[in-house]
Amino acid sequence: MARYTTILSTVIALCSVSANASYSFYVGSNLTASGAVLVGGTGEEVSSHWLKIYPAADHAMNETITVGVTSAAVVPGELSTIPQVQHTFRYISMDYSDYLGFPPPISNGGVNEKGVAVRDVWAPGRAELLDMTPKPQRGPSYSDLARLVMERASSAQEGVEVIAGLIDKYGYSDYGGNTHLIADKDEGWIVWEFAGGKGLWAAERLGPNDVRVSFPGYIHEFPTNFKQDPNFMGSENIVSFAVQQGWWNSSSGEPFNIKKVYGLQPGQETPAGGDAEFMSPQRLENLTIQMAPVSEKDLIDRVRDPRISNDEAGYGQVVSLHADTDPDMYRIWIAPTSSVAAPFIPWWLGAESIPPELGEHRYLTKDSESTFLNQDYQLQEASLFAGRLYKRVLYYMCSAPRKYLPLVKKAFIEFEDQSREDIEWIEKAANLMMSNGERNASRSLLTHYSHTRAAQAIDMGKSMVNALDSYIKLSGQWRDPKGTQINISPNGEPVNCLVGIDPEEPPSEQSKN
Ligand SMILES: *[C@@H]1O[C@H](CO)[C@@H](O)[C@H](O)[C@H]1NC(C)=O
Ligand SMILES: *[C@@H]1O[C@H](CO)[C@@H](O)[C@H](O)[C@H]1NC(C)=O
Ligand SMILES: *[C@@H]1O[C@H](CO)[C@@H](O)[C@H](O)[C@H]1NC(C)=O
Ligand SMILES: *[C@@H]1O[C@H](CO)[C@@H](O)[C@H](O)[C@H]1NC(C)=O
Ligand SMILES: *[C@@H]1O[C@H](CO)[C@@H](O)[C@H](O)[C@H]1NC(C)=O
Repeated sequence: MARYTTILSTVIALCSVSANASYSFYVGSNLTASGAVLVGGTGEEVSSHWLKIYPAADHAMNETITVGVTSAAVVPGELSTIPQVQHTFRYISMDYSDYLGFPPPISNGGVNEKGVAVRDVWAPGRAELLDMTPKPQRGPSYSDLARLVMERASSAQEGVEVIAGLIDKYGYSDYGGNTHLIADKDEGWIVWEFAGGKGLWAAERLGPNDVRVSFPGYIHEFPTNFKQDPNFMGSENIVSFAVQQGWWNSSSGEPFNIKKVYGLQPGQETPAGGDAEFMSPQRLENLTIQMAPVSEKDLIDRVRDPRISNDEAGYGQVVSLHADTDPDMYRIWIAPTSSVAAPFIPWWLGAESIPPELGEHRYLTKDSESTFLNQDYQLQEASLFAGRLYKRVLYYMCSAPRKYLPLVKKAFIEFEDQSREDIEWIEKAANLMMSNGERNASRSLLTHYSHTRAAQAIDMGKSMVNALDSYIKLSGQWRDPKGTQINISPNGEPVNCLVGIDPEEPPSEQSKN
């Protein structure tokens, strides 16, 4: 136990380096059980999160969209308008209400009807870049870029080209450095966008034999002749700018390494925080490789790892990208809040609606403490909020994780196993209906299943909260708060379930119960 305590304090000291992080997993098709590319991860934002399916849409020639950030953002900016395209694709996203002052609704990605998945992860750039950023900054934000890739890209590589084109034309509004993981059935790309207003970005291709964890996002060695290398892309100035600034030169003998040249330098800080040193991306990559051939269930287990999934995780996502999938049939597993304390529910792009319980609620939205509810939202707000329900599971469960985590986790795993069995016949039936020309019936089936499963997940959550609430109170474990500060500062220690966990051991070993 003493060892655990020591380890735990180290864990906590290191974890609190980054306040808002996010993580993503890419597993190449040669390392997965199904032969599909797997993508998973979460967004780590304090704010309210809700599920939304955006339909495909046609647009008038002269339509525009508003992008960027306002003066409220951590690096103040100015909104601007850019031309809309003629057609935008359908996609599903966990939207959220705030991150460092960016205007809502915000997205880290999701999956679109072309089978392009996007995950956005912080990647702190060097502080000099932040200092160079024009004030006010203009151009699409990380969230705009994630959405525009889902609306416009038919492949992962096209997604990189969409980001490149937008940054070249309209600039980029940033908070200190950011990456997007963009994946399709064949490959993935990491795109790293830099602050500074210089249009700097770099991208690296991930292939069938690669595993990549962004925590934070990174690109290491990068060929200076990247234009001749099909595995890399970058802005025109990505090498020359570094040379100009004296950050790198070819006579130094050092390879050109994007993270070393453009990443956070020792002693620097940005609003995006630093590296998460405990559970480095390399450590998480190793743990993922050890699971090969990786199944959806394995990746769910990785995303749910209590060493990275805590109160900070706004949701959990896992998606398989297969060849020859009907647009309606792209399926994404989504946990409505931190997946350490919430089950994953399967959603198809063919679903026609989202239940109100997973829709937008006021909990953790800006200004809700100083404004009354808009009547338009009264029924929506009257519905139970799944995100809040599972936060209660999290807070009760993590009050004694050695006791409760294995029980709760086992229930989630059983629940998801059951969904996985159902999915086989649901998808078979939906495909049959479609091949009979009954697409509407197929969509009704997919909608009905996800709604039913969401309702059952909510029932399970209510039972868990009631059981934990009663047990904790009746067994004398209730404790009132001792202090008066209900909130912690951005770098404080969030609620987590790490007590008694040895970070050197894979979590599945500890939770065998
Ligand atoms: C898949 O992995 C195997 C074993 O590591 C390797 O021999 C094979 O070349 C890989 N296939 C592809 C398409 O990369
Ligand atoms: C866009 O074009 C339509 C038809 O050409 C026109 O009626 C409308 O006023 C235009 N809108 C704007 C904002 O320019
Ligand atoms: C090149 O980089 C090395 C190592 O950082 C440095 O010592 C040297 O002065 C640089 N040379 C030029 C010409 O900038
Ligand atoms: C990951 O695995 C590689 C290869 O086995 C090893 O060299 C490296 O030290 C490991 N890194 C971490 C952080 O576990
Ligand atoms: C399918 O549903 C759409 C949208 O509800 C409707 O407009 C259309 O008429 C339906 N098609 C059939 C064949 O029922």
